[in-house]
Amino acid sequence: MRNETLAIHAGYEPDPTTHAVAVPIYQTASYAFDSADHGAALFNLETEGYRYSRIANPTTSVLEKRVAELEGGVGALAVASGQAALHFAFVNLADHGGNIVSVPQLYGTTHTLLSHILPRQGITGRFATGDQPDDVARLIDENTRAVFCETIGNPAGNVCDIEAIAEVAHRAGVPLIVDNTVATPILLRPIDYGADVVVHSLTKFLGGHGTTLGGAIVDSGRFDWAKQPERFPAFNQPDHSYHGMIYAERFGATAYVERARSIYQRTMGSVLSPFNAFLLLQGIETVALRMERHVENARKVAEFLRDDPRVAWVNFTGFPDSPYYPLVQKYLDGRASSLFTFGIKGGMEAGKAFYDSLKLITRLVNIGDAKSLACHPASTTHRQMSAEQQRQAGVLPETIRLSIGIEHIADIIEDLDQALAQASGSQPRLAAAE
Ligand SMILES: Cc1ncc(COP(=O)(O)O)c(C=O)c1O
Repeated sequence: MRNETLAIHAGYEPDPTTHAVAVPIYQTASYAFDSADHGAALFNLETEGYRYSRIANPTTSVLEKRVAELEGGVGALAVASGQAALHFAFVNLADHGGNIVSVPQLYGTTHTLLSHILPRQGITGRFATGDQPDDVARLIDENTRAVFCETIGNPAGNVCDIEAIAEVAHRAGVPLIVDNTVATPILLRPIDYGADVVVHSLTKFLGGHGTTLGGAIVDSGRFDWAKQPERFPAFNQPDHSYHGMIYAERFGATAYVERARSIYQRTMGSVLSPFNAFLLLQGIETVALRMERHVENARKVAEFLRDDPRVAWVNFTGFPDSPYYPLVQKYLDGRASSLFTFGIKGGMEAGKAFYDSLKLITRLVNIGDAKSLACHPASTTHRQMSAEQQRQAGVLPETIRLSIGIEHIADIIEDLDQALAQASGSQPRLAAAE
């Protein structure tokens, strides 16, 4: 079935006992065993079933199956936030001494995880100087455990050449992990282009309403861990924290996601609540329709800003003069997401005056809500970075990031127009035209 249908149906059949059509919320911490032997079989992963909601929960399982099917993966693990998903995705591959090679344009907190937090545990984030396949290839060595990029970078909106970067990673014998939060599987399915692991902040477009944090790791099932016993011993040697299990042997194609669950979710417990899984499932049902409107509105807003004399620059990858335009055609069928940045004339001060004058568009740090949102990355999401790191991530002092929502387009544009007028001491352009 197509993604529009999977978003509504995948992972759930009406409940056999109650025939409930909506996914039930299983608000339970634990599950009764039929006998001591049944409990032991569950703990040995010899029989399917639930034992404790830190490891798996029936409501959350529906969400995991749905996100896995939407991405074309073989399994998924849902966790409490996008950051928890990224943390587990990295440490599931890299131990002390390992490194993760990344493009430089990343969401600020992911950059911090790779540049400050994981290094304290002996895992190094290596940042390429650019997002070209050669920039990435240069940094891979025998200690590299994965290559990482965001399919559409937050906030720069840059599009990664996933197929070429996957090829570079695979040539060196390492998997490609991609964060597909901004594109969602509606605009792009990275596994179709060679990604091995897909990570999501479900908090954004998939959940879609700015109510609920959540994250997911999707396993493509394509990376052959058994082929690389020295680079990935954790998948190929007995795990003494789990009855000597060898993950690649026991789970085959789902070894990556099952190890993430059995080791990291079980012992570190970044658990998504069943209620939040339910809310995220509600959001996902309409993601295909919402993405269509997000993309259409964003293009109209970008065109309005491009044609406005009060605006200095607009970085919208859907315009033919963007260096990412060919990749938008190749990977996104011309749909340049709803996230982009721009700067107004008058630098930082004019930018702040504009930002403070917004009435409909909300000032905050979030993306992917049905509501239109604006953020000043240099003072918020990217403030931990040096000026040079900010520049590499596509953040200038005056940069405003917009996440365009699904309101009526005329209301969004009128708000931008009046805020530009306030900041520049001019009349609103639309009023002048009437
Ligand atoms: C691309 C991307 N990945 C991951 C995250 C982190 O997600 P969460 O806030 O759910 O932890 C964000 C948050 O903005 C993001 O934009």
